[in-house]
Amino acid sequence: MIMYFTKGFLLLHTLLVLLLSQFDTLQDTLTTSKPIRDGDLLVSKGETFALGFFTLGESTNRDTSGVLSIDLHGNLVLYGEDRKKSIWSTNIVTNSNDNIILAQLTDSGNLVLFLNETSEVLWQSFDYPTDSFLQGMKLGLDRTTGLNRILTSWKSKDDPGIGNFSFILNTNSSCPELFLYKGNILWWRSGHWNGIGWSGIPTLSSNDSVMNFNLFNNEYETSTVWGLRYPGASLFSRLVVNGFGSIHRFVSAISDQEWDILGTVPLDRCDNYGKCGAFGKCQVQNGTEFECTCLPGFEPRSPSEWSARNATSGCVKKHGGASICKSVAEFVKVENVKFPDSSFARVDEKLSLKECERRCLENCS
Ligand SMILES: *[C@@H]1O[C@H](CO)[C@@H](O)[C@H](O)[C@H]1NC(C)=O
Ligand SMILES: *[C@@H]1O[C@H](CO)[C@@H](O)[C@H](O)[C@H]1NC(C)=O
Ligand SMILES: *[C@@H]1O[C@H](CO)[C@@H](O)[C@H](O)[C@H]1NC(C)=O
Ligand SMILES: *[C@@H]1O[C@H](CO)[C@@H](O)[C@H](O)[C@H]1NC(C)=O
Ligand SMILES: *[C@@H]1O[C@H](CO)[C@@H](O)[C@H](O)[C@H]1NC(C)=O
Ligand SMILES: *[C@@H]1O[C@H](CO)[C@@H](O)[C@H](O)[C@H]1NC(C)=O
Repeated sequence: MIMYFTKGFLLLHTLLVLLLSQFDTLQDTLTTSKPIRDGDLLVSKGETFALGFFTLGESTNRDTSGVLSIDLHGNLVLYGEDRKKSIWSTNIVTNSNDNIILAQLTDSGNLVLFLNETSEVLWQSFDYPTDSFLQGMKLGLDRTTGLNRILTSWKSKDDPGIGNFSFILNTNSSCPELFLYKGNILWWRSGHWNGIGWSGIPTLSSNDSVMNFNLFNNEYETSTVWGLRYPGASLFSRLVVNGFGSIHRFVSAISDQEWDILGTVPLDRCDNYGKCGAFGKCQVQNGTEFECTCLPGFEPRSPSEWSARNATSGCVKKHGGASICKSVAEFVKVENVKFPDSSFARVDEKLSLKECERRCLENCS
C-alpha cells in the first residue's frame, strides 16, 4: 500500500460511487481519536472528494499499510504499519494545549487542519499541491508567509514522487506569466495576463471560455486562481501537469463517469519555449517547409545551421540594422506570436504607445 499521503490524495468521483456503497457512515473529519487506516476513506460532506490510501502499480511496498492521524501536538502525521515511526508530518508548531485540532476534507478537495474553537487554519493541502490545480486553489507566492505554490508532475503513472516538470507562476516580473519547466529548462509559457486570461492561450483569454482565470498581483501576493464560468453547470474540472510535459484540462459532468480532456498546452510544436531561438518566429507548416523564420529585419545567426533546420542559435539584426533603427518605419506588426518573455525586462504599463516608441528609438539595443 502507498506511503505517499500528500501525493496519494485521490480525486476520484467516478470510483467514489463504487466505493461509498461499502461504508455505513462516512467521515469527513480526522480527530486524535479517529484516524484513518488503510482501507478507510475520508469523504467530504457532499461526497465530491475522498482521501485514502492507494496501491502503487509497480510498488515494492505493497504489504505496508499506513495510518493517517493527528498526533498529540496537533500535527497531521502519516505512520507506517507499526505506528512507531512517522513517515510524514505537517511539522507545524502549535501551542495547542487545550485546543482541539481537527482535519477536515472539504467539498473543494482541500484537507484543512484547523483549531476547532476558532476555525483558525494551521495547514491546508491546497498550499502544497502536487500535479493537480483545483478550483479554489492558488498557484504562486504568498508574500506574507513566503510560501510559493507550484505544481510538479508525478515521476510516473504509478509513482507520485517528484517528476521532471514543474508549473510555476513567475512572480519576479512586473508582468507575471505561467511557466512550465522541464528540470530547469523552460518548456512553455502562458503569455502575459491580458486582464481576462493568459494571452498565449487563446481559448482561455476570451470571455466565452468555460473557465475563467484571475490574477492577484499586489503587496500581499502574486497568485492565480481559476474557476468555472457557469457554477450551476454541475461540472468538475482540474488541471494536471503530466510527465510528458503537457498540461491537460479535464472536465467531467457530475452525471457522467468519464474525464474528458478539454484543452492541452503546449498546443503544438511551435508552442514550446524558444522553439526558433532569439528573434525567431515559429509557424506550424503543412508541407516540407521549415517552421522557423526570422522576425522582419533579422537574419539567421548561423545560416549553415539554419539550412540544416537547426534554429537553436536564433536570429540577429541584419547589417545596417542599427542605422535603420532611427526610423519610425521600423515598427512592424507581427501577428500570431506571444509578447516577448519579460522576465528580465522592466515593464511600464502606464506608457503610451507613442512614448514607448520614442523610448525604443533612443536605444537600439
Ligand atoms: C468542535 O466544536 C463544535 C462547536 O463549535 C462542537 O460541537 C464539536 O463537538 C467540536 N468537535 C470536537 C471533535 O470536539
Ligand atoms: C527526468 O529527466 C532525466 C534527465 O533528462 C531522465 O533521465 C529521467 O528519466 C526523467 N524522469 C522521468 C520520470 O521522465
Ligand atoms: C526569481 O528570482 C529568484 C531570486 O532572484 C530566482 O532564484 C528565481 O529563479 C527567479 N524566478 C524566475 C522564474 O525567474
Ligand atoms: C469581457 O467581459 C468583461 C466584463 O464582463 C468586459 O468588460 C469586456 O469588455 C469583455 N471583453 C471582450 C473582449 O468581450
Ligand atoms: C494545411 O492544410 C489544410 C488542409 O489540407 C489547409 O486547409 C490549410 O490551409 C493548410 N495550411 C497551411 C498553412 O498551408
Ligand atoms: C544545433 O546547433 C547547436 C549550436 O548552435 C548545437 O549545439 C546543437 O547540437 C545543434 N542541434 C542539432 C540537432 O544538430
